Amino acid sequence: MSLRLPAAVPGAKIIGLGSAQPDHVVTNHDLAQRVETSDQWIRDRVGIVERRIAKDDTSLVDLAAEAGSRALKDSGLEPTDVDTVIVATCTMTAPIPNAAAQTADRIGITAPAAFDLNAACAGFCYGLGTAADLIRAGSARNVLVIGAEKLSDWIDWDDRSTCIIFADAAGAAVVTAARTPEEVGVGPVAWGSAGDQAATIRILEESTNKLWQHGQAVFRWATTRIAPVALDAVAKAGLTPADIDVLVPHQANLRIVEAVAKRLRKDGAREDMRVADDIVHSGNTSSASIPMALDHMRAAGTVRSGEIALLVGFGAGLSYAGQVVVVP
Ligand code: UT7
Repeated sequence: MSLRLPAAVPGAKIIGLGSAQPDHVVTNHDLAQRVETSDQWIRDRVGIVERRIAKDDTSLVDLAAEAGSRALKDSGLEPTDVDTVIVATCTMTAPIPNAAAQTADRIGITAPAAFDLNAACAGFCYGLGTAADLIRAGSARNVLVIGAEKLSDWIDWDDRSTCIIFADAAGAAVVTAARTPEEVGVGPVAWGSAGDQAATIRILEESTNKLWQHGQAVFRWATTRIAPVALDAVAKAGLTPADIDVLVPHQANLRIVEAVAKRLRKDGAREDMRVADDIVHSGNTSSASIPMALDHMRAAGTVRSGEIALLVGFGAGLSYAGQVVVVP
């Protein structure tokens, strides 16, 4: 006896992007009023000029629903066309209920498969990889993948090593079936983890219950281990680094972004490859940073529909994931 399975399709593609940020802007000067830091230090060491922080009455689900609605509008699909919603997040204040089902309900998506996924700052790429394979296997038709974070709920505003970095936002993509191999717009995911370094980014449950990281250790790991993951994603897609039009790494620190770009150029990426620097005005928004940066670049005209983008996320876990996509 053999069980029946749905017919597989050649692959998946992204057909819509959207993002959302709170209105409230917090500058480096604002933070320097509270902790011992300076605008110059933050610009030099992290590359951030300002970030957006949500007020108490804005929830993670509010941001997720706004970004998801925008991505859906961009895709041309109706909420009822979506059958699966994935919210990548690591900052829900309570684990139950999840963000995905509430977000779907808010957008008007009826009874989808809905689940949260926690791979921290790599979450969006994990979610996109999962969505693409659900579609390819015939388990889903149209998937809304959202990276949403309200990191401000977990920030110790007296800790200058973290409060200057993190911010709030959501970014989303609508993923659908590619009917022919030529139409495929999401490459295979290159992903993994380094659980032996779990303690380098964590919530200090024994004291403040806020986020803490061993900045230097994570910096070293990210600047040495992430470019090879990105190169692996390129190879898995059957491309070479010279094929990449735009690099969108997780916006953790502008120096890390530049180090990854430099390494890729050493391995054949073009000098005119554009590199996302959304962190400058958005801060580090964990799982939201990659889809939001791509959305912002497309809106600014820095990236055009049909171009080849290389995404790579990395962070707490430690976890990492990357893939090549065709910009919708
Ligand atoms: O998204 C999740 C993944 N996370 C990351 O990828 C983060 C990776 N790490 C980083 O981005 C950087 O390590 C940080 C931005 C967190 C810190 O930059 P750094 O260049 O590694 O600084 P550091 O931790 O080595 O600190 C250098 C000095 C220290 O002072 P002393 O000991 O040399 O006197 C810190 O106390 O800078 C001090 N410092 C600050 N000074 C002014 C730390 N934070 C601040 C601050 N303002 N905000």
